[in-house]
Amino acid sequence: MSESQKPVIGIIGGTGDLGSGLAKGWAKAGYPVVIGSRSREKAEALAADLGHGVRGDDNVGAARAADIIVLAVPFASHDTTIAEIKAEAQGKILVDAAVPLVPPKVSTVQLPQDGSAAKIAQALLGEGVRVVSAFHNVGAAKLHKGGKADCDVLVFSDDKEARDQVIVLAGVVATRGVGGGVLANSAAAEALTSVLIWINRQYKVPGAGVRITGLDDTVQV
Ligand SMILES: NC(=O)c1ccc[n+]([C@@H]2O[C@H](COP(=O)([O-])OP(=O)(O)OC[C@H]3O[C@@H](n4cnc5c(N)ncnc54)[C@H](OP(=O)(O)O)[C@@H]3O)[C@@H](O)[C@H]2O)c1
Repeated sequence: MSESQKPVIGIIGGTGDLGSGLAKGWAKAGYPVVIGSRSREKAEALAADLGHGVRGDDNVGAARAADIIVLAVPFASHDTTIAEIKAEAQGKILVDAAVPLVPPKVSTVQLPQDGSAAKIAQALLGEGVRVVSAFHNVGAAKLHKGGKADCDVLVFSDDKEARDQVIVLAGVVATRGVGGGVLANSAAAEALTSVLIWINRQYKVPGAGVRITGLDDTVQV
């Protein structure tokens, strides 16, 4: 991939609410997108609906085709899905969007013993994969509205270059990507999702989000 080329984005669980919303936004902006599913036929059908050149494949095929992999599956299937795509992820960036919600109490913070979904992903994938953690606080409905989601996206990684690449991708589908530091800090955004769910319920709004103040509006990194 040359520097001027856009990376191929492979979205694992790309048939879901979050994955398909991200796919739509990136594809509309000219990024090559492959959505993955446990069923290639299901992914191909949704890809045709999404248009903008989106392709569908099974999850392993989507990971293989990707320069940057986005993991958008429920936390209950996080570890098993990572095991399935681990070989294809080596040498690549993997963006983990999974929030470790524990139904039915999804408006209560219940982080895993290992700290966060992102830390678990890095441990399972090994050092050959640059794990970035992002999109936990973006309501999928905002992505499906068309246009950019009205919120900032906090982006975490131990690898600055990978983090910066995902900050740019976040700014394509939402107001702005904002670096939040190392992967360990992902726990804060993962926990914040339960707070936002609680706010949605309490104030009867569909999509509370995060906006970082004190930054110039044009800040991207
Ligand atoms: N929805 C949001 O607003 C939002 C916002 C921020 C973060 N997140 C996080 O992003 C992740 C995806 O959320 P979502 O709402 O898009 O989830 P979802 O629609 O419930 O599921 C996403 C996809 O995961 C696959 N999947 C479901 N169960 C699976 C299993 N047992 N094993 C393997 N794959 C399975 C399905 O794809 P196939 O059936 O095609 O395989 C499904 O389309 C979650 O971890 C969530 O916490 C969601």
